[in-house]
Amino acid sequence: MKILVTGGLGYIGSHTVVELQSEGFEVVVIDNLSNSSEEVKDRIESISGMPLTAHIMDVNDTALLNQIFEKHHFDGVIHFAAHKSVGESVDYPVMYYHNNITGLISLLGCIENHAISNLIFSSSCTVYGVAKELPVTESTVIQSAESPYGTTKILCEDLIRDYIRHKEFKSILLRYFNPAGAHPSALIGELPLGVPNNLIPYITQTAAGIREQLTVYGNDYATDDGTCIRDYIHVVDLAKAHVKALKYSVKMNKRLEVFNVGTGNGNTVLEVIQAFESVNNLKLPYTIGPRREGDVEQIWADTTKVNSELGWEAQYDIRDMMRHSWQWQKSLSANK
Ligand code: WQD
Repeated sequence: MKILVTGGLGYIGSHTVVELQSEGFEVVVIDNLSNSSEEVKDRIESISGMPLTAHIMDVNDTALLNQIFEKHHFDGVIHFAAHKSVGESVDYPVMYYHNNITGLISLLGCIENHAISNLIFSSSCTVYGVAKELPVTESTVIQSAESPYGTTKILCEDLIRDYIRHKEFKSILLRYFNPAGAHPSALIGELPLGVPNNLIPYITQTAAGIREQLTVYGNDYATDDGTCIRDYIHVVDLAKAHVKALKYSVKMNKRLEVFNVGTGNGNTVLEVIQAFESVNNLKLPYTIGPRREGDVEQIWADTTKVNSELGWEAQYDIRDMMRHSWQWQKSLSANK
């Protein structure tokens, strides 16, 4: 099968391309390098040992995207290309609406023109907002999101749900929790351009001396140690879930399926810091600051459905994520 991976040079995209190629899928990538670099293509190839076709372009360039579909005759699409920072989306809501929602509309236009039958969509646990129940299941009520990022994911899910009602088409929505870690080879990992918004790259850059200290955004939440709880999932586990979802979508007789893709375990920010310090045997300078707008207090996944129906379960734990993140950061510093 030939698969288009939009955002395929990005953090989750690059790890998913490696897993797809290792499972014998032919992969074509489009990426606008807004949160990646072209060097990632060479690194993917050196991990998988296979050539990778990558078109440097924006998913919003519908005319060019149609030409790519015309050229390659895809059997399916995995759509990652989107902005993904909760914090940043609060500051730039319109940029998030345009890039994330219009980007999907551009892709759906090509899917319609070329009668593509399968779409795996990168959704997010942020669609649950301040979850009414914990852990969240796929039937936990979707509420208004706490951030423009979460809003774009809710609206994109709605567009896909509506499209499916009118067209012969199947889609799987994967609601990610918090991707973390890096490939054990330390050849690919999270490549935040500029100051990281996410916790883990900020931790590793602080440990590497690139940032002076980490600010923990609030320790007055109603959790054991007062800091927010998230379900951190290793990016390689998350990548493998996409391959499982693609295989599942080909066989599934429903038009739409939704899976929470997490580990089922929640960790507070301070627990993540402690795991990082312990597994890498170093001290991390941090201070407690004010809460960050857009943050929910706690969320983690009920993984019953993804474990039983997709036959997927996370293999790595938080210590593995902290070990691999640090190895990746050190490889970045070494290549400076
Ligand atoms: C995690 C925790 C912060 C930075 C992410 C992705 C999003 C989605 C959900 C997939 C929060 C705290 C952070 C810092 C801190 N995943 N923090 N200091 O906001 O949960 O969203 O997961 O769709 O795409 O971005 O992740 O890493 O920004 O924050 O204290 O410098 O770490 O307050 O409690 P978030 P995050």
